[in-house]
Amino acid sequence: MLSSVAAFSFLMFPLVILAEKHHLLVSTFSVDSIYSVEFDDESLTMSLIANNSAAAAGWITTNSARTFIYAAAWTSPGQVAAYTLNNNYTISLLDSIEGCDASGNPLYVSLLEEQNMILSAESTCSLVYGVDPTNGSFTSQIQVVDYNSSSFVHGIDPTPNGKFVFAADIDQDAVWGFSVDGNGTLVLGEITTAPSSSDGPRHVAFHPNSTYLYVLEQNGCNVDIYSIDNSTGALTYTNQTVATVPSANCTGYWADEVRLSADASILYASTRGRESTTDGFVQGYALSSDGGSFIIPSSDLTTSTTLFSYQTTTSGNSANAVNPAPSTIDVGGKYFVALTDSEIGFLAMLEYYPGNGSMVEVARLSLDDGGCCAASVWLD
Ligand SMILES: *[C@@H]1O[C@H](CO)[C@@H](O)[C@H](O)[C@H]1NC(C)=O
Ligand SMILES: *[C@@H]1O[C@H](CO)[C@@H](O)[C@H](O)[C@H]1NC(C)=O
Ligand SMILES: *[C@@H]1O[C@H](CO)[C@@H](O)[C@H](O)[C@H]1NC(C)=O
Ligand SMILES: *[C@@H]1O[C@H](CO)[C@@H](O)[C@H](O)[C@H]1NC(C)=O
Ligand SMILES: *[C@@H]1O[C@H](CO)[C@@H](O)[C@H](O)[C@H]1NC(C)=O
Ligand SMILES: *[C@@H]1O[C@H](CO)[C@@H](O)[C@H](O)[C@H]1NC(C)=O
Ligand SMILES: *[C@@H]1O[C@H](CO)[C@@H](O)[C@H](O)[C@H]1NC(C)=O
Ligand SMILES: *[C@@H]1O[C@H](CO)[C@@H](O)[C@H](O)[C@H]1NC(C)=O
Ligand SMILES: *[C@@H]1O[C@H](CO)[C@@H](O)[C@H](O)[C@H]1NC(C)=O
Ligand SMILES: *[C@@H]1O[C@H](CO)[C@@H](O)[C@H](O)[C@H]1NC(C)=O
Repeated sequence: MLSSVAAFSFLMFPLVILAEKHHLLVSTFSVDSIYSVEFDDESLTMSLIANNSAAAAGWITTNSARTFIYAAAWTSPGQVAAYTLNNNYTISLLDSIEGCDASGNPLYVSLLEEQNMILSAESTCSLVYGVDPTNGSFTSQIQVVDYNSSSFVHGIDPTPNGKFVFAADIDQDAVWGFSVDGNGTLVLGEITTAPSSSDGPRHVAFHPNSTYLYVLEQNGCNVDIYSIDNSTGALTYTNQTVATVPSANCTGYWADEVRLSADASILYASTRGRESTTDGFVQGYALSSDGGSFIIPSSDLTTSTTLFSYQTTTSGNSANAVNPAPSTIDVGGKYFVALTDSEIGFLAMLEYYPGNGSMVEVARLSLDDGGCCAASVWLD
């Protein structure tokens, strides 16, 4: 009797008290919906809690307070849209503005909160626009940055300290560097060419203390580390590089995303298969504590450099975008990574176990609307 009471309490308390529910939003490439999803990190289940009517969006992000959502809306012409997050995790449209590329769509948006502005990546241009930090709405246009007419700028992000902005240009094989002046305008610095021709820089990530830049090379299937000069923003290639696929051969693949774990100890990179018959990968690499190098057991920069190499169950289609739980969200020290798939349409939750090095899918939510799933954001 006593032992069954003890067993009962032991089971009840962790389940009832420690059960933690998290929420994410998921966008879709071609259906006018943004989904509100609940993830329970104890029962390892995910459920759809709202199908919000919202323009199809290739990319979504939030402000750091996670009260407003900004989307690269795939409308015609393309727009940058702002939503407010309601208490029940639904979203409501606040405002929208036209992008800078009248013939295309914004591909990516990020916020530079130090300057109360939003940045878009739209192939040949970036829109720099003011946002009101208290009500989330757009204020006025600050700038349009024009790249080369043959540019394919797919990602743009400010350093965590807000001093510099880097835009990744797949077709120019380069990263455009900007400093942010006292008026909040982007001032072009250096254009840094990728280490190998046709690497195709797609997205960037930063070490949290703004000292290192990680460039995801879509067409080369690798991640390169650059140091950032903290006074000029100039980049120096560190010669640190890893392959995002086990074979280190990018034929048949295109890399998608690079992100850091909340504690900055793991760099995650994801890759898509170019054909539906080629499954993609999510690989993880150990970073040194300053973020400037990969901790590698050998000089062979391929499989042996990874903490894990997880083969995705599909090609990922246009997505296979990894999104680890950010440092501002407490997931109990666990390494959860959300993964969007647009081959069959689902959001998966992966978990990395540092103790034994395994990366496994712990939950999956089918969102098969014909266009899902593009991007995800963590809300809490
Ligand atoms: C969620 O909150 C919004 C805004 O308050 C409200 O309009 C909507 O009806 C709510 N939805 C549900 C399902 O409660
Ligand atoms: C948001 O705040 C701005 C002032 O920065 C104001 O002009 C605008 O009307 C507000 N918008 C909404 C929707 O409240
Ligand atoms: C645009 O890119 C092309 C091809 O790389 C190059 O030849 C040209 O000089 C660039 N133009 C400008 C204005 O940078
Ligand atoms: C603001 O912009 C003006 C006009 O371009 C420029 O002269 C001035 O130096 C800028 N101020 C700062 C603090 O960057
Ligand atoms: C800038 O970088 C230099 C050289 O790495 C370093 O000595 C200095 O402390 C850094 N300054 C700041 C403000 O981070
Ligand atoms: C990278 O390697 C090149 C060629 O070996 C060398 O010239 C350069 O100094 C190295 N860069 C760094 C930061 O070590
Ligand atoms: C890469 O893979 C492709 C397709 O499997 C193959 O044709 C090519 O020879 C490989 N390249 C190298 C350098 O191994
Ligand atoms: C940068 O941040 C990391 C933690 O994220 C820390 O360990 C490190 O000491 C910081 N500073 C430098 C100069 O690396
Ligand atoms: C790895 O560790 C986790 C957590 O302890 C466990 O659930 C999982 O079964 C382990 N996987 C393997 C392959 O040992
Ligand atoms: C969400 O609603 C839209 C519009 O009614 C619909 O097309 C879509 O299939 C729904 N999504 C899911 C996952 O049920």
